[in-house]
Amino acid sequence: MQEIEPLITKREILCAETAVGANALIVFGASGNLVHRKLLVSIFRLYVENLLGERFYILGCGRKKFSDEQFRIKAEQSIRDISDAASTGELDAFTSRLYYLDGDYNDMSFYRRIKEKLVELDLRHDARESRVFYLSVPPFLYTTIVERLGKAGLASPDESNGELRTRLVVEKPFGKDLDSAVELNNSLSRCFKESQIYRIDHYLGKETVQNILMMRFANTIYEPIWNRNYIDNVQISIAETVGVEHRAGYYDSAGALRDMFQNHMLQMLTLVAMEPPISFEADYIRDEKVKLLRSMRPFDLDRLDDYWVRGQYGPGRINGTDVKGYLDESGVKPDSRTETYVAAKLFVDNWRWQNVPFYLRTGKRLAAKDTEIAIAFKKVPYSMFSSVGLDELPANVLVMHIQPEEGVSLRFQAKRPGSKICMDTLNMNFSYKSIFSAEMPEAYQRLLLDCMVGDQTLFTRQDDVEVSWRLLTPVLQAWEQSDAEPETYPAGCESFARADRLIAADARQWRPVLHD
Ligand code: BG6
Repeated sequence: MQEIEPLITKREILCAETAVGANALIVFGASGNLVHRKLLVSIFRLYVENLLGERFYILGCGRKKFSDEQFRIKAEQSIRDISDAASTGELDAFTSRLYYLDGDYNDMSFYRRIKEKLVELDLRHDARESRVFYLSVPPFLYTTIVERLGKAGLASPDESNGELRTRLVVEKPFGKDLDSAVELNNSLSRCFKESQIYRIDHYLGKETVQNILMMRFANTIYEPIWNRNYIDNVQISIAETVGVEHRAGYYDSAGALRDMFQNHMLQMLTLVAMEPPISFEADYIRDEKVKLLRSMRPFDLDRLDDYWVRGQYGPGRINGTDVKGYLDESGVKPDSRTETYVAAKLFVDNWRWQNVPFYLRTGKRLAAKDTEIAIAFKKVPYSMFSSVGLDELPANVLVMHIQPEEGVSLRFQAKRPGSKICMDTLNMNFSYKSIFSAEMPEAYQRLLLDCMVGDQTLFTRQDDVEVSWRLLTPVLQAWEQSDAEPETYPAGCESFARADRLIAADARQWRPVLHD
């Protein structure tokens, strides 16, 4: 197959970006991994791009003891580790806005101290417009913290000053099944209104995931063919090379279905399959996503194996290095049945998608890191070239590459110059990096900015979370009750035989996992 780079001229760039006014970001779990690997550097980049305003500050809260100065040094180091281009001047200006308070999350006096500190910092920075509380803590602490914020009078949108806006950001997982998700939503809603709650799914902040909406709804060419008449199947894959890393405590009780499928995979599916919203406003978009999730066909629990595959990585080799199997990872129970790979076949019961299979798969410790959404079109109904031996013409495939190389490609047939009948399959590639020659922003940059300006479009709503758990909880329960164990696949493999059989049963194949 030949690769061609299209010549794309950027005629007009239409941007809608809003700079934020004064803001306080209060981060719980401020000494944790996520804050130092992702959040701080994202906030720093927003600051450097002048999107945070001059009256912005961060209050880090956590159990570990740090002075403001120690927190600043640690933050500076974390930012430098990721962004070596950061200048000392910018870093000093940014870190001078960081403060820290330590305390016990269960203790009301911690929240009273936070409140006093916020009053002091609001005065110092002249920042009395909005506060964002960010929970970067293990999920079992969500209710504890939210209830105490409420009791301390920190959750209410108007507090003493009717103008102060307050928002709450929660990281996934939002529950571990339908009941726990409903319970969590209920406890958040006792203190915060839905319009104040921002449930983060970082996949929605990825540029290429957002681009699905632009591609589908800012162009006319896709809509007429975006349905069961032209599309044969859709494949959504997230392949990772990493294993469980240092997160066995969480992952071993979660597994791939809860960790990746209920959120990232289903969110991508909704964007690909939903109906056109009437406007680019949060609730119009979220209404369509929920409508789509409600149309997902429930699984026949007596034939679950025809629709679902789960696997667990065994020992193997990745990029020339031997790696352990899941059961040998530190912190994993030696007899764990937790799945690190899931593949599934789903259907959407509506007019647009009737009987078009959506094949989804995600796994850790695979041959390459590769996330993509592939729309496989139907083959030509009849080949007029069969007389010259070309009766099996490959179908067109439109691929949205999410990572590591962000872009879009289209596979099509064309004449090769030379002999009279010579056909080639070409891939027309559009790469974000080469067209826009810019580093792709971290997903958290987009999401943090959005929650600071109060735009909920890229955040999952309560009903979205509950509908997706309603679909998946019976599968989890069936697995828990079954004696069958997840099948083992060797770390570093390009394909997993059990998952190959799932799709082969429909006379189709997975797209290959791309090598780094
Ligand atoms: C997280 C999961 O939400 O997403 C991790 O908890 C996973 O297990 C990660 O590794 C993948 O994110 P990305 O952006 O690297 O694809």
